[in-house]
Amino acid sequence: APAVIVAIDGPSGTGKSSTSKAVAARLGLSYLDTGAQYRAITWWMVTNGVDVTDPSEIAAVAGKPDIVSGTDPAGPTITVDGVDVAGPIRTQEVTAKVSAVSAVPEVRARITELQRSIAADARTGIVVEGRDIGTTVLPDADLKIFLTASPEARAARRSGELKNADVDATREALIKRDAADSSRKTSPLAKADDAVEVDTTDLTLAQVVECVVGLVEEKR
Ligand code: C5P
Repeated sequence: APAVIVAIDGPSGTGKSSTSKAVAARLGLSYLDTGAQYRAITWWMVTNGVDVTDPSEIAAVAGKPDIVSGTDPAGPTITVDGVDVAGPIRTQEVTAKVSAVSAVPEVRARITELQRSIAADARTGIVVEGRDIGTTVLPDADLKIFLTASPEARAARRSGELKNADVDATREALIKRDAADSSRKTSPLAKADDAVEVDTTDLTLAQVVECVVGLVEEKR
């Protein structure tokens, strides 16, 4: 069978990662978390004292860090210059700064190229999750999914993940990040015209996975 490419986009807290990993595992496909790559380059900028409020400073060093993603859905990995950054890329500091870094065109060009080469190398195929996969990175994907959920549901899920009782603060931070990601000039968060929109507000993870697996099987 030819390799199957699945693009899963949407704002944060809609269940993209859990859904994408489970779909990839079920179908024997690779899995790529593109948000982790933007977080990794942001972590490198922060660690190296780059002023992330200055796009020209970011652009000047965008090519420096070597970012490597492991694409096994049972245990995805991410390293920067050989250092495992799976933990450090989830801090509040990185989360607060990632939208500014990912808005810089030189950063996007570099990471997009990396994503395309990973997808091209996936033998059975790949599930790629992000914000601009269906619109920009892999416009010829076999299936495009756009996940949505109410702001309340998204904040509640994120707070649960972070074991953080402050749902209100989480919701505010999430809304701010989505607004930045949706309004940037270069490949903003957007639903592709040919994407299938799935509202996950009242669905369990198992139901969303079932729905997406069914859609992939229809395409194969
Ligand atoms: O998915 P996650 O919340 O980890 O993504 C972190 C950030 O990375 C997003 O808020 C966005 O700024 C950026 N991102 C992006 N394009 C993608 C995936 C993530 O700009 N395809």
